[in-house]
Amino acid sequence: MIDPARSVDRVQDLWIEHGRILGAPQQGQVPESAEIMDLTGHWITPGFIDLHTHLREPGQEYKEDIASGLRAAAAGGFTTICTMANTRPVNDNKSITLAMKERAREVGGTRMIPFGAITRGLRGEELADMGELREAGVPAISDDGRCVTDSALMLRALEYASNFDMLVIQHCEDHCLTQGAQMHDGPTAHRLGLRGWPREAEDIIVARDIILAGRTRSRYHVAHISSKGSLPWIKEAKDRGLRVTAEVTPHHLALTDAAVVGYNTFCKVNPPLREEQDRAALVQALQDGTIDCIATDHAPHSSMEKECEFEQASVGINGLETALGTLLALVRNGELSATRLVEALTTSAARCLPDLPAPSLADGAPADLTVIAPDLEWSPTKNTLRSRSHNTPWLDQRLRGVVTRTMVGGNWAHIRPDHD
Ligand code: DOR
Repeated sequence: MIDPARSVDRVQDLWIEHGRILGAPQQGQVPESAEIMDLTGHWITPGFIDLHTHLREPGQEYKEDIASGLRAAAAGGFTTICTMANTRPVNDNKSITLAMKERAREVGGTRMIPFGAITRGLRGEELADMGELREAGVPAISDDGRCVTDSALMLRALEYASNFDMLVIQHCEDHCLTQGAQMHDGPTAHRLGLRGWPREAEDIIVARDIILAGRTRSRYHVAHISSKGSLPWIKEAKDRGLRVTAEVTPHHLALTDAAVVGYNTFCKVNPPLREEQDRAALVQALQDGTIDCIATDHAPHSSMEKECEFEQASVGINGLETALGTLLALVRNGELSATRLVEALTTSAARCLPDLPAPSLADGAPADLTVIAPDLEWSPTKNTLRSRSHNTPWLDQRLRGVVTRTMVGGNWAHIRPDHD
């Protein structure tokens, strides 16, 4: 059992009753009717939380709807996912939020928290109605996919959001520096003849936003950080006691722009995969806490949008189901500790949000948990992925380590077929 909230990493029995964890059973205390499960060799962790998921309902259900997305989340070990607002129409008002929540309730399984937009229609012109979104249960706002580049608007967003104790999540990209960009701006882009997206386009926005967040003292979160140049700004903001947090994706931790060679559209993503020096700095910053948590940026796209010329392909990597398998490679090669990995997928993610209790396996906690076979080898395939889309660089590749079961509120939301 790995339970970062209590610094627990030990072998222990766990008793679950009426949707809650009851700790280790005493001898003779287990009723005869109890179902007993031998999970020797597995890890049990609190359920994973993803602060950055794109489901495509409403509007583009052929890529992912709420039902397929929640199934994919459960298969990846996630018991709570937070969805980005770039649906069609955009989630910038309470009627969309409430419809999404209602659909998620009907589907059941993994819990879903819709995030709202910062600006109406993600147009970057006027603020969405934050009070209305907050009332509908939205704890965070983001124009993800687009950056709020107008400094006056961003300042106002931070001021308003702090009135409602909401988190503002920024997609950090100075769009003036990334016109026509297809991948990271470096030697590989030059060799492939593709226009580059320089690190500085991210670093500039991170630095500016931290200056603004320092003035408003509001909660500010950097989405999918990719550049080593952003890290000193975040560290300095934390050292000053600002409420600044950051997330990193499994693909930015595991891959570099070398994966794009061959014009692999499954590796076309925004922000782009960067160089080894960035990847290594991101892993180090995750391990030391400069980066708070791991978020998948699950971005499903259909084969129509990916099996085409690189310049035409949509940006995004399908990430919910492969996250754990790719991240465990970092634990095995010694770059990341297992406890920090679990913490970054659970407690540290929850702490970024204003009102999400930190998940734990302590007595009395809701039974949201993930069971992992850390050494089981498997391959994500078109037939086995729960997601409607298959745009992952790990399609048909061997991964080591997989989620075998996911429990939400005492009910199994996922059982791996060979584990029932
Ligand atoms: O790669 C990405 N895909 N980055 C984003 O910011 C948006 C996302 C999407 O919606 O597909």
